Amino acid sequence: MFRLRKMQVVVSGVLVLTIAAVLFWSNNSQASGSHAQGNLPLYADVTKPIDARVDDILSRMTLEEKIALVHADSKFSSAAIPRFGLPQRWLSDGPHGVREDVGPHTWTPAGRTDDFATLMPALIGLAATWNSDLATAYGKVIGEEARQRGKQIMLGPGMNIMRTPLNGRNFEYPGEDPFLVSRMVVNYIRAVQAEDVASCAKHFVANDQEHERNTINVEMDERTLREIYLRPFQAAVQEAGVRTVMSGYNKFRGYWCAENDYLLNKILKDEWGFKGIVMSDWNGTHSTRGSVFGGLDLEMGTEVSPYEKFFLSDAFRDGVKSGEYPMSVLDDKARRNLWQMLTTKAMEPRRPGAINTKDHQKAARTVAEESFVLLKNDNNALPLDPDKTKSIAVIGENAVLLQAYGGGSARIKVFYEITPLEGIVRKVGDRANISFAMGYSEKESAELANQAVRAASQADTVIYVGGLNHRRNFDAESWDRLHMKLPYKQDELLDRVVAANPRTVVVLFGGGPMEMGAWLGKVPAVLQVWYPGMEGGNALAGVLFGDVNPSGKLPVTFPKRLADSPAHAMGNYPGANGVVRYEEGLLVGYRWFDTKNIEPLFSFGHGLSYTKFEYSNLRLTETRDGVMTAEFEVKNVGPRDGAEVAQLYVEPVKPRLSRPQKELKGFRKVFLKTGESQKVSIPLERTAFAFYDPERRAWAAEKGDFKIVIGASSRDIRLHENVRLKETTYDK
Ligand code: GLC
Repeated sequence: MFRLRKMQVVVSGVLVLTIAAVLFWSNNSQASGSHAQGNLPLYADVTKPIDARVDDILSRMTLEEKIALVHADSKFSSAAIPRFGLPQRWLSDGPHGVREDVGPHTWTPAGRTDDFATLMPALIGLAATWNSDLATAYGKVIGEEARQRGKQIMLGPGMNIMRTPLNGRNFEYPGEDPFLVSRMVVNYIRAVQAEDVASCAKHFVANDQEHERNTINVEMDERTLREIYLRPFQAAVQEAGVRTVMSGYNKFRGYWCAENDYLLNKILKDEWGFKGIVMSDWNGTHSTRGSVFGGLDLEMGTEVSPYEKFFLSDAFRDGVKSGEYPMSVLDDKARRNLWQMLTTKAMEPRRPGAINTKDHQKAARTVAEESFVLLKNDNNALPLDPDKTKSIAVIGENAVLLQAYGGGSARIKVFYEITPLEGIVRKVGDRANISFAMGYSEKESAELANQAVRAASQADTVIYVGGLNHRRNFDAESWDRLHMKLPYKQDELLDRVVAANPRTVVVLFGGGPMEMGAWLGKVPAVLQVWYPGMEGGNALAGVLFGDVNPSGKLPVTFPKRLADSPAHAMGNYPGANGVVRYEEGLLVGYRWFDTKNIEPLFSFGHGLSYTKFEYSNLRLTETRDGVMTAEFEVKNVGPRDGAEVAQLYVEPVKPRLSRPQKELKGFRKVFLKTGESQKVSIPLERTAFAFYDPERRAWAAEKGDFKIVIGASSRDIRLHENVRLKETTYDK
């Protein structure tokens, strides 16, 4: 018996040990969510759903670890959470390329040699291409370079609406129309995020001027907010799945954007279902309580030291401990930050990126080429014939001024920057005698002007390269422009240059409209190039000498004078006593000029080509319930291959509520060989007819008559057709 018993003891002992081992193992695995691949904890198992992994980490985090997620630990990072293999999270500007590293605890450049980057054209230029495929190519460059530089979040694209020509950051944003802005930023964001880098929709919302940007309170009605200023952000969230949003510096309806319950909790998170994080702009956070309950998830750049003094650091932690702030509120913030990290694969070995590749350079050049807008071209002054242009006077500071390292947070430390002069010399320096005269500079100089006039008189052709730059009160963050005129007495200079040589083509740098009335009638051709990035000079030479047929269209209205512009006509810029009221409401940009019947200098959507296009045969078909398709033909009837942007506007006929005369609801860029014709098809969802109904808190497509208008610009209407909506529908 004993023996038996002994055996029994041995067997049962083994049994007990086995059971214990199984219990321990399964226990452990339950706690850690074990995976078939051995004992990986759930949160680390990349094959598991991200939400489950996030919840798993959260369930294990300490209060300190959660707090570490919601505030910075340097100028452009938040702390690692080593216990879970979460590395330090690096963020970087900006919309046009990956900014050089600074600090880490100051704005002083870090002085590295491995943080050069590709500079793409400014976003206003990307918008001027009207080519959403290029927005994809653009975002891919940003994403690949950001991943190579170890960044998890890229702080762009900016998507504030151009309400005034004077906003110092107009160059960073895609223009005045929410539909065009949306099409550009959605593809840009999708492409960046496809590279395992999070994009950032900024600056949420109505940070539409730099004047008093840190204090101004913006007031506007609900339809204006919904139909104009929120639209691009809504598209970024609901169509592109943007993973981060940056709150603006300003107040909205009396509350800081960084702690605005209506904007951040009610609209962005509850109504739109945003799962990512709201970060503050740098030093744009104002209180612990306001940030905790107002929807802020990540505090960046607060000018205090050490980081424990941040509003969402010790004060938040202590408030949770004391019960002033519910743990559930901190958990939501932590969950959002973890979600952003895991969707950016922060815990996984990141595949290498790429920097300044031939593809990146090609993308920079192609975006630049397609961004240029040929505003005027009398008697085919352009393109210049390289074989017949024996001497060229290149005049203007912008022919040689390096722009890359300017503008504020969007500045880039570039590998190279091809200036207009360099591009022209590379293209025709072997065939033409090229002279250069500065013409003007920051310091006024009659001698510079006289030299320029002399150079003009001695050349076959003049290429004048002027406009604005990234100096203070032109196109630069923190300040607005003081007027819409060309600086440095360029009007006077141009007058004299044209008098000395009528064969003067004008090339303009700038992030928005400029007054040209003084000399426009005297010059045969004007090309708007925005800020064309590091390949800008090559792109410019390609267009000037005909290798490239310009296809850009204005993403903003160019008024004849500032006073014609809505924010200025109504005296609502820059606001008074710290408040700016958007009393022009929905009538921003061409919506104002069309509805008020004011003739602009150049209209929204305007842009010429070296060839000609004809439109024909518009027909509207209802493909399925509520969706209509507009079909028409575009034909290249000119002498050379080219691209045309056909635009579709919806015009309500006698609407019940006041609405803009017409609104852009579709466009297609078609590339046509000479003589070629192409059918264009633009679908129109019911939302294309809708306005926002504040009472119903829904988008209303009301029954009634509308005109579908097809144009080569908002004023160059080629086709139109009437259509009737038979019933009223509402979309939440
Ligand atoms: C700046 C800008 C913002 C930028 C941030 C970090 O003040 O408003 O666009 O991303 O700070 O540089």
